[in-house]
Amino acid sequence: MNKLSIRDLDLSGKRVFIRVDFNVPLENGAVSDDTRIRETLPTLRLAIDRGARLVLASHLGRPKGKADPKYSLQPVAARLSELLGKPAKFASDCVGADAEAMSNLLKNGDVLLLENVRFHPEEEKNDPQFAKRLSMLCDQLFICDAFGSAHRAHASVVGITKYVKQAAAGLLMEKELAYLGKAISNPERPFVAVLGGAKVSDKIEVVQNLMKLADAMLIGGAMAYTFLKSQGKAVGKSLVENDKLDLAKGLLDEARKRNFKLLLPVDHVIAESPESTATKTVNIDTTPDGGMGLDVGPKTVELFSKEIAKARTIVWNGPLGMFEKPAFANGTLGIARAVAAATKSGATSIIGGGDSVAAVEQAGVADQISHISTGGGASLEFLAGEKLPGVEALTDKPAR
Ligand code: 3PG
Repeated sequence: MNKLSIRDLDLSGKRVFIRVDFNVPLENGAVSDDTRIRETLPTLRLAIDRGARLVLASHLGRPKGKADPKYSLQPVAARLSELLGKPAKFASDCVGADAEAMSNLLKNGDVLLLENVRFHPEEEKNDPQFAKRLSMLCDQLFICDAFGSAHRAHASVVGITKYVKQAAAGLLMEKELAYLGKAISNPERPFVAVLGGAKVSDKIEVVQNLMKLADAMLIGGAMAYTFLKSQGKAVGKSLVENDKLDLAKGLLDEARKRNFKLLLPVDHVIAESPESTATKTVNIDTTPDGGMGLDVGPKTVELFSKEIAKARTIVWNGPLGMFEKPAFANGTLGIARAVAAATKSGATSIIGGGDSVAAVEQAGVADQISHISTGGGASLEFLAGEKLPGVEALTDKPAR
């Protein structure tokens, strides 16, 4: 990467503004999944060890530009303090006199977490004045470790970089870019992409881009039905995006012309509705009118697993069925185990998107995956070949 790294900065005694992505789930006023916080610890510890004074900023949820206690980062400060083993101070607003005074009182190694930047409408508008006010909390040093927010051109991600001397990537950001960047620029082959989830419309650009880069693509989940219907197959009551049928057909035609291996489910688990537990496994060609496809079947798991076993690079985004219900979980969990097994045999596996991450955790194989991305939308945009504004805005490394 040609961007400055946290390792390039002289941090000792300086206030450094660190944009993190602490957009974590909360339950009963406490953090219920602290993965995103734990993943930033190497960056925070490095800055602490180097004697920096840390000013951390994040968004949480989508509070629509207004202060809303439901989206306060206060519970995150509590969890962060536990994880760091030292108190993280908390400023009840991310800009203004109080936050400035608190940042000025920091000593080397101290940590201050600011309240949700999205409590101000200027954050999402990337307002320059607001970005400048944020920058007043640091000594012209900015670190972005918020890979999960790097696709957002917001004030605390992009705007602030104009008001600092150096804007560098944190260690998590570097790790994410290294794994995802290698997959799309120089993958070990065969490179197999596994895509699932509800909607084709969310993943069109990813399908198009990965069709150029990968050696095979395996498509499951509800999005497969738009492809299957575009081939004239009966899909019963399965979820279909009818306005995307032409597009799906176009992608399949292109794959055929280019001899690109694009595999769709050959069997599936159907029920009358997602609430029903009376399930049946049928071949794709024999889907009854009233059947709704809610998981891929065992023959599909076998077919997909064979491709996954041959892969040296695997990128997976999106579940292959409604795995949060046990009746429709076997397909997704089977694929999770296949990805873990391939990783054990030397493949590099990269998983992104909250649902697929939950699936590998449910399958008990999360620790057997090479890289679990902390970015949902950001990893999809990256895989679609788009540039991430939060990365572009960082300072280039000086030419040697
Ligand atoms: C995410 O959870 O994907 C990031 O934190 C970005 O959140 P956003 O979609 O609300 O911008």
